[in-house]
Amino acid sequence: MLSWDEFDQPEEGAAAKPVAAAQPPAAVSLERLDSVGDAAAHDARAIAADDSAAVARAKAALDQLDIAEGLAELEGESARVTVDAKRMINCRADLNQLVPFKYDWAWQKYLDGCANHWMPQEVNMNADIALWKSQDGLTEDERRIVMRNLGFFSTADSLVANNLALAVYRLITNPECRQYILRQAFEEAIHTHAYQYCIESLGMDEGEIFNMYHEVPSVAKKAAWGLKYTRAISDPEFDTGTVETDKELLRNLIAYYCVLEGIFFYCGFTQILSMGRRNKMTGVAEQFQYILRDESMHLNFGIDVINQIKIENPHLWDAELKDEATQMILQGTQLEIEYARDTMPRGVLGMNAAMMEDYLKFIANRRLSQLGLPEQYPGTTNPFPWMSEIMDLKKEKNFFETRVTEYQTGGALAWD
Ligand SMILES: [Fe+2]
Ligand SMILES: [Fe+2]
Repeated sequence: MLSWDEFDQPEEGAAAKPVAAAQPPAAVSLERLDSVGDAAAHDARAIAADDSAAVARAKAALDQLDIAEGLAELEGESARVTVDAKRMINCRADLNQLVPFKYDWAWQKYLDGCANHWMPQEVNMNADIALWKSQDGLTEDERRIVMRNLGFFSTADSLVANNLALAVYRLITNPECRQYILRQAFEEAIHTHAYQYCIESLGMDEGEIFNMYHEVPSVAKKAAWGLKYTRAISDPEFDTGTVETDKELLRNLIAYYCVLEGIFFYCGFTQILSMGRRNKMTGVAEQFQYILRDESMHLNFGIDVINQIKIENPHLWDAELKDEATQMILQGTQLEIEYARDTMPRGVLGMNAAMMEDYLKFIANRRLSQLGLPEQYPGTTNPFPWMSEIMDLKKEKNFFETRVTEYQTGGALAWD
């Protein structure tokens, strides 16, 4: 462990100086920054006899560096940040100063996400490969479920990642939330990697799976619905700051966090995890289980961000936007019901499309109430209580303690 003691020893011969209480230095004006440390810099930058022409040119170029101009391009003001100055959107405080935290829950989610780190290669896929390869290991309906879900998810997580990196990150003006968004974006990359890993391990036709969102209507409709809400805010010219643009960002957050990650993932998660519970495709199911745990945190983060924006900007959350948000949840639920029917033309794995419809309505009620909106499917109950158990955060530690330890690392998986 590092100790500061060795760094604190006074240099030999140096007179011990009295330790003064740390005082915050007076703020340095941008104009003054250009002259601070000039003497030391001047000495260091002097052209030495053995400097090459390239080194001399680099030193000379730095004489042209305008510090005040460079820092002026940063987002936000140059003062030290206070908690009161921080806001979710349209914030003027410096976004490069992570602390002091205002939204402790965002930082906690960042820490929790890091604590749950996993990689797809850690999951043993050998049993899945044998089952997928065998002639009578899975029914046609079960194979359809595996194919459709890998088809949907292999591109869906890229849509989510793109929306985060190309649109949301820039517009959420809070550093602790941005820290979580960066973590989430990496997790989306891991999820896409996990689907790719399953597809490669099972020897599937990669083009068929990755292009499914252009070829299979029930998959294409979900992707198209999500992309509609990215279009405006991923325009580099787009900015928040008016009622209409702030509402556009909220619509995007509701579309992605509440519908894409909060509804569109749930039929597929339930089907694949149900398969795993029946001891089929256990490697794929384990990948999905890790992903589901990440996704439930993404969803909760998104809900917290949306609700915090509502608290800070109550004028945005008017009757019109409440109605739009409700419609978005209902449209998303309907598309997922259609996906359930397409992926389950008959009963399979102890479930059928009608049961999934009940489950999706139960999930939709939950999303609506998380946003403070009235439930739209009264009296719906959860036909898959085991899904809640899998997502129960308190059990996740146990889940990880029992993870497969026989890792498949490096190289391609063999078929036999
Ligand atoms: Fe994901
Ligand atoms: Fe996600």
